[in-house]
Amino acid sequence: MPIVVENVSYRYAPDTPLESAALNGVSFTVRTGEFIGILGHTGCGKSTLIQLIAGVLTPTAGRILLDGSDISRPDFKRDRLREQIGIVFQFPEQQLFEMTVERDVAFGPRQLGLPPAKVRERTRRAIQAVGLDYEAVRELSPLTLSGGEKRKAAIAGVLAMEPEVLILDEPIAGLDPVTRKDFMRFIRQLHRAGKTILMVSHDIDELSACATRLLVLDHGELILDDTPEKVFADKTRLKTLQLGVSQPREIIDALREKELDLPEGIFEYEALLSALIARFGGQKT
Ligand SMILES: Nc1ncnc2c1ncn2[C@@H]1O[C@H](COP(=O)(O)OP(=O)(O)O)[C@@H](O)[C@H]1O
Ligand SMILES: [Mg+2]
Repeated sequence: MPIVVENVSYRYAPDTPLESAALNGVSFTVRTGEFIGILGHTGCGKSTLIQLIAGVLTPTAGRILLDGSDISRPDFKRDRLREQIGIVFQFPEQQLFEMTVERDVAFGPRQLGLPPAKVRERTRRAIQAVGLDYEAVRELSPLTLSGGEKRKAAIAGVLAMEPEVLILDEPIAGLDPVTRKDFMRFIRQLHRAGKTILMVSHDIDELSACATRLLVLDHGELILDDTPEKVFADKTRLKTLQLGVSQPREIIDALREKELDLPEGIFEYEALLSALIARFGGQKT
């Protein structure tokens, strides 16, 4: 189920003194099963781009095609979009509003008009999938959950729609390091289970371990679209874009400068550890 973004531009408040061009002529195709990381400095248009793909905003110019159909045409079935593309906005926990966690997660599937037994089943599965204890949390008010649990509950609400494509806007920003790691593991699992993932971040380290492809935006333009290896190869460019370079990459480069025989092109911790073990011996624990 490819998503084609075709020459898309977006302006906020067009034809007013507040007009601002957020995206300019962006084109790319999302293929089934990809894990796409969307990177770029604050204000470069990441959130605007994913809201366009999710149909929350409509392009000022250009088109977005889902399976060949233009999603902004009046005859496009909006329900299809809601069923196929799930979007987790930044700080999704602010959108929890029902009296209990179960009701909150069930909200989307209920809107789809599924029979109650099916809604319950999907709700239970989604709550368990995010690592919450269904029996323990189902009757609780979402307000009583911790920050990380709230975010999990909000993501469960999107998963319960069983979308093929999951779009996440800075899903781990503001979480503590342990919860961040848990979350990334969870998102990787979803990808392995066959979901197509688009994840926005301004942190290269978060994406380096899991994305199969990176899109880099700068001032509303798509300036890089390549594998993580290729994107990270251009260290000078990344610095110019103020994106920084992953820490494992910095470590390897520093060691190579000391003429240690280590491979190039490492940008995540697992690979760094394996390279160090291969070079110096020892075992992974
Ligand atoms: N609701 C809005 N009204 C006017 N301008 C906006 C609005 N939302 C975002 N912008 C502007 O659009 C540009 C892109 O914003 P955004 O897509 O939120 O970037 P990012 O998610 O990469 O930080 C920025 O210049 C921002 O100020
Ligand atoms: Mg944003």
